[in-house]
Amino acid sequence: MANILIAYYSESGSTERLANIIQGEVGGTLAKLDSKPDLAAYDTVFIGTPNHAAGAAQAVKEYLATADLAGKTVIPFCTHGMGGEQNTASDITALVPKSTVLRSFAVKGAEVAGAKAAVINWLTSIGLK
Ligand SMILES: Cc1cc2nc3c(=O)[nH]c(=O)nc-3n(C[C@H](O)[C@H](O)[C@H](O)COP(=O)(O)O)c2cc1C
Repeated sequence: MANILIAYYSESGSTERLANIIQGEVGGTLAKLDSKPDLAAYDTVFIGTPNHAAGAAQAVKEYLATADLAGKTVIPFCTHGMGGEQNTASDITALVPKSTVLRSFAVKGAEVAGAKAAVINWLTSIGLK
């Protein structure tokens, strides 16, 4: 069984709600990215971000630029407005060149509450459920 960390940044709560839904399905530890979680104990790390200016939030990019996720499995997720996922997952992928990145998940911030079935489908498709 994977040791799962669900690390996320959230300004207005939507990405945090999505992180909570993911944790409800796969377990693991939740961590806000404004504090720096100790990654040593984890082999699978979800990275959650709001879409900011068509990509990952600055706080997430800054975190990933210094965090050591080499050899770990990374799974991006995001919440967004009208723009959709845009470059959020590709920004995350570019910053973890020594990680195995699995397929990402994105949902409109206003629709997170109804996203549980879609989250389960995604987690099943990447082998986490
Ligand atoms: C500074 C800022 C920039 C944003 N830029 C985009 C964008 O380019 N495309 C988009 O679809 N949504 C954009 N949004 C909307 C957020 O991605 C969306 O509301 C998200 O669900 C917020 O997540 P949070 O509640 O976890 O902070 C932006 C929001 C903010 C505050």
